[in-house]
Amino acid sequence: MRYRTFGRIGWNVSEIGFGAWAIGGDAWGHQDDNESLAALRRALDLGVTFIDTAQVYGNGHSEQLIARVLKERGQRGGGGPIRVATKIPPANGVWPPLPDDVCGERYPADYLRQRVEQSLRDLDAEVLDLVQLHTWTRAWNRDPVALETFQQLKKEGKILAIGISTPEHDQNSLTGLMRADLLDSVQVIYNIFEQEPAAELLHVAQQHNVGVIVRVVFDEGSLTGKFTSEAAFAEGDFRRGYFRGERLAETVRRVEQVRETIQTSQDDPKDMPSVAIRFALKHPAVSVVIPGMRTVKQAELNCAASDQDPLSDALHQALKAHIWRRADWYQD
Ligand SMILES: NC(=O)c1ccc[n+]([C@@H]2O[C@H](COP(=O)([O-])OP(=O)(O)OC[C@H]3O[C@@H](n4cnc5c(N)ncnc54)[C@H](OP(=O)(O)O)[C@@H]3O)[C@@H](O)[C@H]2O)c1
Repeated sequence: MRYRTFGRIGWNVSEIGFGAWAIGGDAWGHQDDNESLAALRRALDLGVTFIDTAQVYGNGHSEQLIARVLKERGQRGGGGPIRVATKIPPANGVWPPLPDDVCGERYPADYLRQRVEQSLRDLDAEVLDLVQLHTWTRAWNRDPVALETFQQLKKEGKILAIGISTPEHDQNSLTGLMRADLLDSVQVIYNIFEQEPAAELLHVAQQHNVGVIVRVVFDEGSLTGKFTSEAAFAEGDFRRGYFRGERLAETVRRVEQVRETIQTSQDDPKDMPSVAIRFALKHPAVSVVIPGMRTVKQAELNCAASDQDPLSDALHQALKAHIWRRADWYQD
């Protein structure tokens, strides 16, 4: 496992972090807790020092499982050496927030304080390493009052670092906040299909020494190359919606083109999960990639990507051609 510096916060974090959404158990179909615990233990044994979770992942269940594993190792759910990033959802309303929503109404100060206390309990921690707002709208950059509450909580010693997870449709929306030095980290979708953050967000993060957490590096599994257009997702797996209708067949068609590019390259190894992870790691602004992991096998395969050589410039360049702007219906 290789390690990188986490922006201005300076933590030494593993290139591969543990994405802990699926182990929450409520959005990816059936997930056995023993399997989740084993996957997390294996990832930590393989050198993972960064875990990403959220309050909404199983309504605290993901956080509680993480606390359990860290306790076995004599650690709390905050304060290091294994760093845990969690997220606070906005108070009731539309997700992602609407342009007319008011920041102080979706993330009121009392609510944020109460939510921080909730994570301190669920993670069994005295201090939270990194608290992220789970979503955002560009409209709030004019008056980001929620970040003032977080700054206060930092001064009080409840949290060590402040971050925001991008809204999927507007990934470059956090650049103004980074330029104003209001964020320690950003969490962003960056993968072989979704390359838009390379336009602005990643560069600004690098300039302002902001930690970058890359999520959804497999496009929810498709970029591992394991789906066919007949794939059926289990009851309760959110991917029944994400890959609904024509979307799965179109995704598989494009994944096969990605596979072809990898197979005809000079790079080794050529397995798709490892290439997908190393594509994201190739950008120097990236601090940590957090593939979701549900099994021991997935933990082993995903951690191994950091031990392999970085992608060659030639393959990296060739993969950039697979950018897929899914919001653009005028595209061929
Ligand atoms: N808004 C936000 O802030 C937000 C949103 C999404 C995710 N996240 C964070 O980012 C993390 C990663 O995103 P994600 O989990 O949604 O998507 P992802 O990393 O693109 O995909 C993860 C899924 O791919 C499959 N997989 C993992 N490793 C594999 C391997 N080596 N070979 C084959 N299949 C493999 C697993 O599902 P199956 O085995 O069932 O296929 C796993 O759950 C999350 O866990 C969460 O911490 C944050």
